Amino acid sequence: MTRELETVGKIMTTHTHFTPLGPGAVATPNHGAMAPLAMASTAAALVAPGKGILAADESLPTIGKRFAALNIPSTEENRRAYRELLFTTSRLGEFISGVILFDETIRQKTSNDARMPDLLAAQGIVPGIKVDKGTVALPGFAGEKITQGLDGLRERLAEYRQLGARFTKWRAVIAIGGHLPTTACIESNARALALFAALSQEAGLVPIVEPEVLMDGDYTLARCEEVTTATLQTVFAALCEHRVVLEAMLLKTGMVLSGKDGAEQADAAKVAETTIRCLRRTVPAAVPGIVFLSGGQSDVAATERLNAICRAGGVPWQLSFSFGRALQDAAMKTWKGSPANVAAAQAALRHRARCNGLAVQGKYAEQAERENPAR
Ligand code: 13P
Repeated sequence: MTRELETVGKIMTTHTHFTPLGPGAVATPNHGAMAPLAMASTAAALVAPGKGILAADESLPTIGKRFAALNIPSTEENRRAYRELLFTTSRLGEFISGVILFDETIRQKTSNDARMPDLLAAQGIVPGIKVDKGTVALPGFAGEKITQGLDGLRERLAEYRQLGARFTKWRAVIAIGGHLPTTACIESNARALALFAALSQEAGLVPIVEPEVLMDGDYTLARCEEVTTATLQTVFAALCEHRVVLEAMLLKTGMVLSGKDGAEQADAAKVAETTIRCLRRTVPAAVPGIVFLSGGQSDVAATERLNAICRAGGVPWQLSFSFGRALQDAAMKTWKGSPANVAAAQAALRHRARCNGLAVQGKYAEQAERENPAR
């Protein structure tokens, strides 16, 4: 056990001995001392140096959309074959610490009759699971969304743990527009994220708390910083109120960027400076790691910006990635649904995973793209 984890164990043992003082009392987690320790160790493994997370948890509508763009029919068998392709990529575990699965996938088997979570574990990769049930319109607030999935979550978490999951993810979305976001939207989503995180920890699963500020719009970098700051402040206030153990969770957030349609696009150095400033002002140092989503950036742009952020350093958390599209786009385009393209698609995935593995160490350069065996 590392010195850091021993310290976490002591802190958490202490916390479990606090006597609640009534509303607003100091955090008093409900679990025994060992569960938080195991969770802290999983959280540390997920942000191990040089590694990051592959988000392969697209819901049925989302994977359907991605497949449709490439004329791949979204059948259960095609989804299974595609995820098997991803997870059987050789040496993936060198760069990928964990994979986020979707409900359908965690129950599927490979063509060799292996359970998907077992396949990942055999590569030294921690299996995780998306547990939210997607977003619906927030009533009364045009253009805003609330994430659903709290009903029955306690029971679903127990089952996912049985199926091999060791961490969970819940995504909330915050849109930037003329009068958006509203306080009601940020607060209701923060409350749901906190309940999700508390329930996950109760089940011994590390929550990845993901409030995503959407890239859509022509807003400025400064506006994105303002909204991300307000969102993260509200989310951490809710997490503390719900007695979530900060040492046993990860934050998943977007980089602070200019809106996708903004006239002026901040360069990687400015994105890094602004993102780090925003996170320093909002994320407690007790959180072991922050992982970035790609959110619709091109794969190379996401890697360049991740590299700039990680290179700046000097922060109390491990910084890493939890990319969906920025890891998978090239692989899916190469595969096109054909078994003949599996090896080339796996090479494309391994290449992007390697580039991002370099970026989290601040060691990525354009040269790495030329070392792409898939080119
Ligand atoms: P993207 O990297 O494609 O944004 O996906 C990450 C994710 O898991 C969103 O919830």
